Amino acid sequence: MSVDTAVATAPSIRSGLKIPDHLAVIMDGNGRWAQARGKVRTEGHVEGVKALRRLVDLAIRYGVKHLTVFSFSSENWRRPRDEVNFIFGLLHRFVASDLATLIQNNVRVRIIGTRDGLDDPMSRLIEDVQKKTAANTGLELIVAFNYGGKSEITDAARRIAARVAAGKLSVEDITEETLERELYTFGIPDPDLILRTSGEQRVSNFLLWQGAYSELVFVEENWPDFGEQVFLKALAEYSARSRRFGGIESRSK
Ligand code: IPE
Ligand code: IPE
Ligand code: MG
Repeated sequence: MSVDTAVATAPSIRSGLKIPDHLAVIMDGNGRWAQARGKVRTEGHVEGVKALRRLVDLAIRYGVKHLTVFSFSSENWRRPRDEVNFIFGLLHRFVASDLATLIQNNVRVRIIGTRDGLDDPMSRLIEDVQKKTAANTGLELIVAFNYGGKSEITDAARRIAARVAAGKLSVEDITEETLERELYTFGIPDPDLILRTSGEQRVSNFLLWQGAYSELVFVEENWPDFGEQVFLKALAEYSARSRRFGGIESRSK
């Protein structure tokens, strides 16, 4: 389906709204959402999963082609063990409860991040969900789990260095594409828009290479409060941006 068709069929679409081909979301503010309601932080993560379902739904309805969500960063290991375990358990439960729906909705799932530090059940789960959705042709849902942009680039550099040391690659032949091929995201276009909720205005080690020319939109709402209203507000802000990529002409995306 072309973007134009998607726009025409999406409900409550406003004219002039541009739909990013690749939307990346830093789902932040679960803890603060819970704390503001006198609940424990983990209840915020539970609500966060519901917001993620709404996001996937909206991405499908509005014709987003690639959706990346930041669900656990390599720095999130610094949190209390209980909270880390809870978040891991949530991913298991999300896959168990939603896999059938994802397949039904033709969603292809890709999990990016390092497998280091993940136990066998978690690694198996990741392989399983990727395998079972690999043939789907609709929305590509990229889950950044145990992901850190700096280590992604460092690992890429290490693999390239090993090829140089083995005499398989010459230094002069190293290009941006050489590096890109080594990233988890090889084959996925760079994000057009990176959206972060909860009012924080930073990237927190998310898609450092890929986000070089992404538009950044920050909204005040905490992640569990995310829905169509926030989605449309962010898209309206994105649509008003002029993307120049270093040039002078405004491009449509
Ligand atoms: C985002 O919400 C979810 C994860 C990082 C796993 P937080 O848990 O960071 O919530 P705040 O930022 O503490 O409110
Ligand atoms: C970024 O949020 C990571 C995820 C949303 C998974 P954090 O809450 O971990 O980021 P900081 O610590 O506020 O920068
Ligand atoms: Mg946070």
